[in-house]
Amino acid sequence: MITVHTIRELREQVLAARRQGQRIGFVPTMGNLHDGHISLVDRAHAEDCFVVASIFVNPMQFNDPKDLERYPRTLEQDQQRLAAASCELLFAPDVKEMYPNGQASMSRVTVPGVSEGLCGGARPGHFDGVATVVTKLFNMVQPDQAFFGEKDYQQIAVIRKMVADLDMPIKITAVPTARAADGLALSSRNGYLTAEERAIAPALHQGLQQLGQLLKQGVTVAEAIAEARQAIDNSGFRCDYLEVRCADNLEVVSAPQPGDKLVILGAAFLGNARLIDNIQVALN
Ligand code: PAJ
Repeated sequence: MITVHTIRELREQVLAARRQGQRIGFVPTMGNLHDGHISLVDRAHAEDCFVVASIFVNPMQFNDPKDLERYPRTLEQDQQRLAAASCELLFAPDVKEMYPNGQASMSRVTVPGVSEGLCGGARPGHFDGVATVVTKLFNMVQPDQAFFGEKDYQQIAVIRKMVADLDMPIKITAVPTARAADGLALSSRNGYLTAEERAIAPALHQGLQQLGQLLKQGVTVAEAIAEARQAIDNSGFRCDYLEVRCADNLEVVSAPQPGDKLVILGAAFLGNARLIDNIQVALN
């Protein structure tokens, strides 16, 4: 695997791959890679791509400076993991390369509707930061296809709308959430948990599953949310949001109908970490 740190070198390498007739598959990340990230690389290979991964901890999408500062940076370890997964090219720019004139005067991409509420409500400006950096990365890499994890369900909805609205010629592929054996969704933020908190952490996923079961049994959305929220809070988490939405367009669903495809999304605090998760549920 080749690692490049500048846009110029990135473009050279991508052009060389294209000249050999390769399809370019892109996996954007913020590093501190785990099996969830690697599953995106594997999927890109399964779809016959020359895989370009990026690692950039994007300051524009962090609304809390402390969160940005403590975000784990583990480039060497990440390079080893990507090389072991046969990733072809890694782009790891620094902040100056990405924002040479600073962030304050930057043009920004805003994706209305799907960016609002859920993590967009809890983290103001977060999805503008994501949409802006992903646009920049798309323009730098110019991939045929890009791969995102369902773990960040709202993020995929934002990217899909952005790509459609702005006519970006890139196929977006969603990859299922990779989980630990006990159901906890893999996340760089799991590293913030103490051993005791790690033992509690699967309760978020369990709460989402419980909510799904209640909906399948015909319990109302409001009651099901209240019951699952209590179970999550009783486990030691502090729920941030817990919501039932339409899986296709993320619209609020208050009275689900048979045949509906739903997504249940939750975010909750545990110790120093804020964890998110979601599951999809189809009603009979
Ligand atoms: P990051 O949190 O590093 O995630 C990079 C990609 O890995 C995202 O598409 C995310 O959904 C996916 N991912 C994370 N955990 C996963 C899991 N357990 N299973 C499957 N996929 C998982 O998301 C970002 O970075 C940034 O917002 C980014 C898109 C790179 C823009 O800065």
